[in-house]
Amino acid sequence: MNGHGTAPRTALRVTLRTLSDDTFTSTAMSEKATIILDGKSYEFPVITGSEGEKAIDISKLRDDTGYITLDFGYKNTGATKSAITFLDGEEGILHYRGYPIEQLAEKASFLEVAYLLLFGDLPNKKQLDEFEGNIRYHSLVHEDMKRFFEHFPSNAHPMGILSAMVNSLSTFYPKSQDPHRPQALVLRTIYRLIAKMPTLAAISYKNNLGHPYMYPVNKLGYVENFLHMMFALPTEEYKVDPVVSSALNTLLILHADHEQNCSTSTVRIVGSSQSNLYSAVSAGIAALWGPLHGGANQEVIEMLETIRNDGGDIQKWVDKAKDKNDPFRLFGFGHRVYKNFDPRARIIKKACDDVLKKMGVNDPVLDIAKQLEEIALKDDYFVSRKLYPNVDFYSGIIYRAIGIPTRMFTVMFALGRLPGWIAQWKEMVDNKEPIGRPRQIYTGATKRDYVALKDRS
Ligand code: CMC
Repeated sequence: MNGHGTAPRTALRVTLRTLSDDTFTSTAMSEKATIILDGKSYEFPVITGSEGEKAIDISKLRDDTGYITLDFGYKNTGATKSAITFLDGEEGILHYRGYPIEQLAEKASFLEVAYLLLFGDLPNKKQLDEFEGNIRYHSLVHEDMKRFFEHFPSNAHPMGILSAMVNSLSTFYPKSQDPHRPQALVLRTIYRLIAKMPTLAAISYKNNLGHPYMYPVNKLGYVENFLHMMFALPTEEYKVDPVVSSALNTLLILHADHEQNCSTSTVRIVGSSQSNLYSAVSAGIAALWGPLHGGANQEVIEMLETIRNDGGDIQKWVDKAKDKNDPFRLFGFGHRVYKNFDPRARIIKKACDDVLKKMGVNDPVLDIAKQLEEIALKDDYFVSRKLYPNVDFYSGIIYRAIGIPTRMFTVMFALGRLPGWIAQWKEMVDNKEPIGRPRQIYTGATKRDYVALKDRS
């Protein structure tokens, strides 16, 4: 095979085997995978992660063999090595920087988790104070931005507004566009983004209502400040309910990172062209908006409402979800990587019961959700495909109980995911990763000559 990337026309045989035994050892780098193409063997290194995950490093595959791999939806493709989040979908495990999600959700604050994701370790008191201070300092958005908000249609979806406004931040801070600026300036951009996104999100909501914007109050904590900007009015006093802020803190932590998901991969790939952080995150927000990703939390509540308004015949909707001729899917069910249970969903289901009880809320869609889960989990269609409730199945019921309107649900997801997006972007930049540029197998017309318009049939 030549080293200039000319693909062979025929492949006689393709097999793959690992040479050494498959257990995780510190000498894992000595493992090799052999690929046999057209009767010729090629060896590729086997990489083992710190939790024992295995990968065949095919970085040199095309140079050595002329072949590429093809993997729709990147179901088997690792795009990077990352030290941020570990996820085992078969066992239902999720760790941020080694810390189990269950412990962080119960004990940490959202900004503590943001610090952990960004810098690799939990902050000490001084580091956390400093970090929180930096975020507080940047919470205002430029007054000129108000004019942008005024020109969105009154029913504009807040995710569209958020994505546009986050991208617009880059125009207010043009130095953020220099990919080689000093670390201190990079950090300032990061603080700005974490500080301003709740402000922008809250303004988009107020704009939707036609209510005056509330400025951030910096004596409040991050979550409390967001609630203040969302729900306070200039005409009356607003006190943050600790049940509400604690529930929101938990939800934000549960969403804070999820390794190489669709929106995070988007942020990394946009950032890999050395475009600025605001634009990369704006693209991530757009990716998150889709109903198969973060947009599912809005879809779930709308689905539960539809089932309720339709008379509550749950079996009918389960059957619709199973029917391949019906486009309906059970939103909040299934996950690309979790094939046992989604640990975040477990925490949220319990939190949902607790929050509704503490707030004295009786939401009839919670009963529908529970019945739906019970019926689906006994149904062979869902069991055989390993489809379980995901993070979005119960989160909307909590958001609703704490007063967040349905169209803002995915914005809440975006606020939570922000530190993860930034940490992943930072890791990609710090590791000097190359521009992301997948290849393809071309299936279109082969070379043909241009035909003049008059000669075309
Ligand atoms: N309802 C009915 N059938 C489903 C569902 C569902 N929610 N999810 C998957 N399936 C079926 C699918 O039709 C396919 O069946 P078959 O093998 O007969 O063709 C099989 O299960 C495998 O599904 P897939 O779509 O090939 O799996 P995927 O890994 O490409 O998609 C998913 C994962 C999350 C997009 C998908 O499960 C889904 O659309 N779920 C509903 C949307 C949702 O809740 N998304 C939120 C995900 S969690 C938040 C986040 O991090 O984004």
